[in-house]
Formats: sequence, C-alpha cells, structure tokens
Amino acid sequence: MTEANRQLAIDVREHLEYLRELGVETMKVELADSPPLDHPVMVVTEEQVSHEKVERFIPDRPFFTKQPLPPPAKPNVPANASRLSLLESTRLSKLNSETPPLKSVLPQISKNEMPKPTVSPATNLFADRNSALPDTGETIEGIRTDIGDCRRCSLCEGRTKIAHSTGSFTADLMFVGEAPGADEDAQGAPFVGRAGQLLTKIIEAIGFKRDDVFIGNINRCRPPMNRAPLPNETAECKPFLLREIAVVRPKVIVVLGNTAMKNLLDTKEGITKIRGIFQDYYGVKVMPTFHPAYLLRDPSKKREVWDDMKKVRDYLNENR
Ligand code: URA
Repeated sequence: MTEANRQLAIDVREHLEYLRELGVETMKVELADSPPLDHPVMVVTEEQVSHEKVERFIPDRPFFTKQPLPPPAKPNVPANASRLSLLESTRLSKLNSETPPLKSVLPQISKNEMPKPTVSPATNLFADRNSALPDTGETIEGIRTDIGDCRRCSLCEGRTKIAHSTGSFTADLMFVGEAPGADEDAQGAPFVGRAGQLLTKIIEAIGFKRDDVFIGNINRCRPPMNRAPLPNETAECKPFLLREIAVVRPKVIVVLGNTAMKNLLDTKEGITKIRGIFQDYYGVKVMPTFHPAYLLRDPSKKREVWDDMKKVRDYLNENR
C-alpha cells in the first residue's frame, strides 16, 4: 500500500469512527461520478431539530440582532456599580504595571477586561505567543461567589438557574458556547440539551471524557426565546468566563459558533472565514468551529468540525 493510500485509509476510518460516535447509523452518499448508495437517509430530521431554535447558530448571521435594549435591571443601583464591584474584585484590572486610577478606566472596562487578542487568519496559525495569560491568583469558587445571585443584567429576570461552567478546573481543553437554552436553564449547567449531547460525542471522538474538559458559555443566563445575547448582556457576563480561563489555563479553547468566537477573539470575522484556523488568545490556541446546534440542523457540516477537532487533538498530543 502506498503512503497516500495508507493515509487515505486512516482518514476514512477516522471519519467512519467519528460518524459512529455521533450516532449516525445510516446515511445517503451521492458522489458525482458514481451511482448513489442505496441506504436509508441520516438520522436527524428537520422535525427533530426544529424545536431547538437553532437558527441563531447559522454561521455568519448578523452577530447581534437589532432589538431595542431592555430597560436597566437595577433601578436603585448606580449605573457603574456592578462594573465597579467586578473591577475591584478581579486582579485582571491590574494587569498593566501602570494602572490608571479606577475611575478613568471605567468607561472602557467592558472592552478591556483583558488585553485584546490578535486575530489574523493568515498569519496567526501557530503564531508566537507574545503574551501569556495573566496570573490572577483567583479560584473558580471565588469567581462563583463573586457572581452570586447575579442581577447585573436583565437576563436574570427570566432565568431558572444560572448555568455556570462545568468540568475540570485544570483542563487542557476548554469549550465555549453562547448562552444556555431551555435545558441548561432548567439544570443550571451548560450544554446538557441535545446540542450538549452532540458536544459530548465530539469530545469523546477525540479521546477525552466530558469531565476532563472545561465547558462554559459567554452568558450564563438564558436569553428570552433563545435569542443571541445582546452586547450589554455579554459585557456583564463575559468577564467571569475570562477570569475562569485565567484560572484553568487551558492549552486549547474551542469556540463554538459566531457568538462565542466573536466575543472571545473580539473579531468581526465570520465563523466560516476563520473556522479551522488556530487563533491566539493570550498565548492559548483558540480553534473556532461550528456550534453543535448548527450540526443538528445541517449534519453535513460535521465533516468540517471533525477536521477542526483533529487539529485540536493533534496539537494537544504534541504539547502534553
Ligand atoms: N448552546 C450554547 O451555546 N450553550 C449551551 O449551554 C447550550 C446550547
């Protein structure tokens, strides 16, 4: 067998294994130059996924839907109070040696919770790590305490439970999604619904257990009607995730879908453009890929996600 054929065989076997892990039992394959295989079609039907309201995960939809901002959630609290308490309670505000007085940084703090990552699809593939994650000395428990019974944005009004990040606090691999859906809101944990079950299979397909990785969302409370979180909502919630990243210090973060990618990388690029290309966040490799809810809607995109996950697996194997 030639090396090319051997590689092809390995590739085919990996893809079959992945499809099996994803629960695909049968599928119809149509190749341009060969007759279609005579098999029943794939498992996931439109009917099965319609209730998931996965429209929001279609790549390159407008990032934030234009909706009127909800009224302020804290009528009796000074406008900057939550930011002030967040800022005071995290050492991320003291990252620079010449920290300006607290009041003077307040207007920019939602953008500058941590220094901006660099995003350049062409040049960023395995780019040099020119800055490391800050050592904040925090703990996940301390961050949870800080979050408390959060009422920093109006999403608290409709929530059942806060869906805090879950998994290993020392994980090498982290996954970041958008915001809880109905199941996550009911159980108070991220990715426990159908998209979450698919995520678990994706994690296991590259040889990890779900408990070995760290899983979180940009927002911890469910947006009404499963809409994407609004900028004022992500601005309040995202800093807690960033602080958790600085505690866990993963080697790779997989960002799932547009909202997670744009929020973590602070980029205007769409997911289809930089999907599959390692980006950099504080020296941590970031792999943007499609959201599992999108895969439920369009299973043909699993192939791309599998390609991306193999890059993640290989990077982690080479950097143990
Ligand atoms: N989608 C997300 O982005 N996060 C979840 O926790 C569940 C679905």
